Amino acid sequence: MGRAKCVVVECAVLFILMSSAAFAQTPSAANKGTGISNPALNARVEALLKKMTLEEKIGQLVQYSAGQPTGPGTGRTDYEDMIAKGQVSSLFNVVEPQQINAYQKIAVEKSRLHIPILFGLDVIHGFKTEFPIPLALASTWDPTIIERESRVAAMEASADGIRWTFSPMVDIARDARWGRMAEGAGEDPYLGSVMAAAYVRGYQGTRLDAPDSIAACAKHYVGYGAAEAGRDYNSTEISEHTLREFYLPPFHSAVEAGTASIMSAFNSLNGTPSTANPFTLKQVLRREWGFQGLVVSDWSSIGELIPHGFAIDGEAAARKAFTAGVDLDMVSSEYHDHLQQLVNSHQVSVAEIDEAVRHELRVKFALGLFEHPYVDEAAAPKALFHPDSIALAQTAAERSFVLLKNANGTDGKPMLPLGSAVQNVAVIGPLGDDPSYPDGAPDWAGPRLPFTAALTKKLGEGHVSRFKGVGVLDGDDQGIAAAVAGAEKADLVIMTLGEDPGMSGEAASRAFLGLPGRQEELLEAVVKTGKPVVLVLFSGRPLTVPWAVEHVPAVLEAWLPGMAAGPALVRTLFGDVSPTGKLVVSWPRSVGQEPLYYNALSTGRPPGDVDLTKPPKDTETKYVSRYLDEQNTPQFPFGYGLTYTTFSYGATKISASSLKAAELNKDLTSDATALSAETDVKNTGNRAGEEMVEVYIRLQGTSTTQPVRALKGFQRVTLAPGETKKVKFDLKPESFAIWNDKNQFAAEAAKLTVWISPDSAHGTPAQADITP
Ligand code: NOJ
Repeated sequence: MGRAKCVVVECAVLFILMSSAAFAQTPSAANKGTGISNPALNARVEALLKKMTLEEKIGQLVQYSAGQPTGPGTGRTDYEDMIAKGQVSSLFNVVEPQQINAYQKIAVEKSRLHIPILFGLDVIHGFKTEFPIPLALASTWDPTIIERESRVAAMEASADGIRWTFSPMVDIARDARWGRMAEGAGEDPYLGSVMAAAYVRGYQGTRLDAPDSIAACAKHYVGYGAAEAGRDYNSTEISEHTLREFYLPPFHSAVEAGTASIMSAFNSLNGTPSTANPFTLKQVLRREWGFQGLVVSDWSSIGELIPHGFAIDGEAAARKAFTAGVDLDMVSSEYHDHLQQLVNSHQVSVAEIDEAVRHELRVKFALGLFEHPYVDEAAAPKALFHPDSIALAQTAAERSFVLLKNANGTDGKPMLPLGSAVQNVAVIGPLGDDPSYPDGAPDWAGPRLPFTAALTKKLGEGHVSRFKGVGVLDGDDQGIAAAVAGAEKADLVIMTLGEDPGMSGEAASRAFLGLPGRQEELLEAVVKTGKPVVLVLFSGRPLTVPWAVEHVPAVLEAWLPGMAAGPALVRTLFGDVSPTGKLVVSWPRSVGQEPLYYNALSTGRPPGDVDLTKPPKDTETKYVSRYLDEQNTPQFPFGYGLTYTTFSYGATKISASSLKAAELNKDLTSDATALSAETDVKNTGNRAGEEMVEVYIRLQGTSTTQPVRALKGFQRVTLAPGETKKVKFDLKPESFAIWNDKNQFAAEAAKLTVWISPDSAHGTPAQADITP
């Protein structure tokens, strides 16, 4: 299937899922979840439920981490004894197949009802074959890459005995200070929804009970990415409108794609912790979306209702989380300790317990765990590091790089790609060797060729010199002089700067977004030599590097590229492949702009033509929504990314000047085209190239204020030098519906603007009216 067609399929999927949310106040008749609810399966669940004691039922609602890492509120350690008594449903962070089988043997052979354990793990960008971080994977704008990546992850993890991953993270992330931006698909609900569904399809395959499928878990439900001030675990305030329009769609997409589970988040949402929030867990997830799968808490987040100030003790915490709709207690042990008493005192009913147990058992039956509880220990290693998987990790890395700047060198040609004349390169900077990403992931291993080694392989021994210069974080500047001397002797310098992998991910928020430590100093000293410099940035978020953007001719964002980093970078820098990634997050100029996102509201005082590079000089330039000391615009907008050729876009043309809201609302799930938009895209350079073409809309005059732009589709186009192609988007009715002032999803009368553009900040618009 061609890529453009594939995008159309994605659009259709999204279209259905978003519009079915519209007015659905009752469970959909559809079976939500790949085989997690069907009559035969449900009959088995009911039959088992009938045999269970209350203690055994509560056991199915209890999960512990039985390996590294340990963390707060780790509950118990006497798992073997508890499993034998039927008091544990799931374990995670156990990664040895032998150990998995040993625990499973106790459950299957010693516990009264022989209910198997469900083993989970954070398999978030590969199991053993390490792929780029999710933010990088999303920067490919290619759901097929994500689907194939998660399929590989599922095959490897399941061969090891792990049948459940706590992935994908589908939190919308608008603030680069928040370290977990690295784990998601960025700031856009449309793109995030496409990627969420792709992960679920990849992990769960066509059948959950296939031995190489694993259950997905969309997390963290919900609003976790809106942590105030970008500080992890912090509170969030999100109106119902904003929740529905921006934060919920990727979760809904995951549910529609059949995710077997959802993880409740750590954050307090509008004063109610997400792990005890009946509105999001029961009203939206169960009643409106008809979700039939499992809701697991995040790590000890039930116990954390106490420090939140929402529960006074463990019993209240268990009651509030359970009655709000959290089925499985990850780690905190509050359910184990208190549910029985809560039932005895009639604060929780047996019917409610049964319902939660159903959710858990459905996933176990659907996975085929009762039939195949054990993993084949001998086969496990054979599934890892298949050459095709490593090749895919390299392709994913190559397609994730975002070329931010590529100015001309002294020869009057763009700095990149590097030509064959490059003979003598100095690699300078702390991250020249093996960027990785350890957060929550298993111990990475397998064949690796770090960047400097890969470059040496390409150019030959003696042609590459290596200078660390400074550490990522340390204050020592002793290496700077040697690095400068090394640069002087080279024809070209490649600087490898950025963040340590541990600086993004969980509990890795930053108050400053510049290059950490003394790396900026190193960069400026090397640039001063006058040697041509290419800057490769490694990071789990955009970094504020305005000096580099101004003074370094070529800047490539490599994110944290995974195990194939070295060859992927060398092939990209030398033009064997062209960078085609585009930003899925707005790239700030300075940290004070955060949270920064393209799909913002206009305000009543948008700056319009005011020159924000200059301080205000009169009332017209002052009393607008602006900073005194910074521009509003990002350094690079959402959707931006260069490649080794250039493209020009024609004006956007649309198929009608008027649409009728009533017509659109007749069937928001319709697959019919409501409006087509097209433009000509021309390759204006002298290399063949691929361009991701994006379509955005704005609606004005609506009952709720809509963003200045909203992404509604994207398509990749490949063009020979000088070639022009027409790129056409067929937008369905759903594209024009909004969450209105009654929190319903519907089209309304509006002024419509449409852009087909290379990013969220350009394009020549077309306009139409939507009449009532
Ligand atoms: C806490 C993290 O927030 C979550 O994403 C992860 O899945 C769990 N720990 C389990 O490791």
